Amino acid sequence: MSTGGRPRVLLMHPILDPGPAILAEAAEVIAYPQGRPLDEANIRQAAEGCIGIVSQLMDPVRETVLSSPGLKCVSNVAVGFDNIDVPAATAHKVMITNTPGVLDDATADFAFTLLMATARRIVEADSFTRSGQFRGWAIDMMLGHDVFDATLGIVGIGRIGRGVAHRAKGFNMRVLYYDPQPLPPEAEQQLNARRSSLDRLIAESDFISVHVPLTQETQHLISTAQFNTMKPNAILINTSRGPVIDEAALVEALKAKKLAGAGLDVYEREPAVHPGLIPMPNVVLAPHIASATVRTRSEMSAMAARNMATAVRGGRPPNLLNPEVKR
Ligand code: GLV
Repeated sequence: MSTGGRPRVLLMHPILDPGPAILAEAAEVIAYPQGRPLDEANIRQAAEGCIGIVSQLMDPVRETVLSSPGLKCVSNVAVGFDNIDVPAATAHKVMITNTPGVLDDATADFAFTLLMATARRIVEADSFTRSGQFRGWAIDMMLGHDVFDATLGIVGIGRIGRGVAHRAKGFNMRVLYYDPQPLPPEAEQQLNARRSSLDRLIAESDFISVHVPLTQETQHLISTAQFNTMKPNAILINTSRGPVIDEAALVEALKAKKLAGAGLDVYEREPAVHPGLIPMPNVVLAPHIASATVRTRSEMSAMAARNMATAVRGGRPPNLLNPEVKR
């Protein structure tokens, strides 16, 4: 909504260049008050008189926010959009956009980074060496798990899952994937990936990497029943969304040695991390940074800003998630 002057857009958090300039060309940009808790009532109040909100994944954008008079677009600076109630947005005729594609490679690289780091105990090895505990080579020191020739199970074979399968070829891995949507046969052949049930993937994989969006169907997709059938040498990697894995069940399963380790970038109640994970040396923990490269984060910023600028100018943003709002 315009208050007589230029249309106003609420920027929930700073974004990287060239995002701010793209936004400023299209609208008057209002910054969300620093330090104000990110709850719906506060966001609604800050969005008063705004045509758009540029949000991030920690911002709850639901009915209270989406019903704000004059709001036309919420541009999420992320590919995931489980922080936004899209059906409510559609009901209020608010366009929702995300940033698909530009973060696939950085995220697939990071899933592999976690896989390698967990398999070869690199975080433990680094602190061992730094703290002066390395007093000589030993045949049984810091034994890890082989990656080359191992079986990799990919849960969700979207763009990022396919990127992980692509990288696995270089390690001669046998790739199984679980996805309701099969890959075309040429893609299966090219990626050397075979479709599997979730049960079989869980039971046969040495590494399991999760790449599904968070939905009602995928919440706790990996829980006690799955941990009970994993190989004891299995390593679980999650760069998708925390609630896809039942974190309390993961802690119990690791304690009971139902699997060998985990590499996690995301958590059920971010930024909180289950306290049971903290002392575990066989778990590598990262603070939700899978897409955090200079190039990727600036491309995400630019894409989100372009989505918003297009909406402000009355157009149809390129990455519109609810096209029924803007025919
Ligand atoms: C990051 O988690 C994203 O969804 O872009």
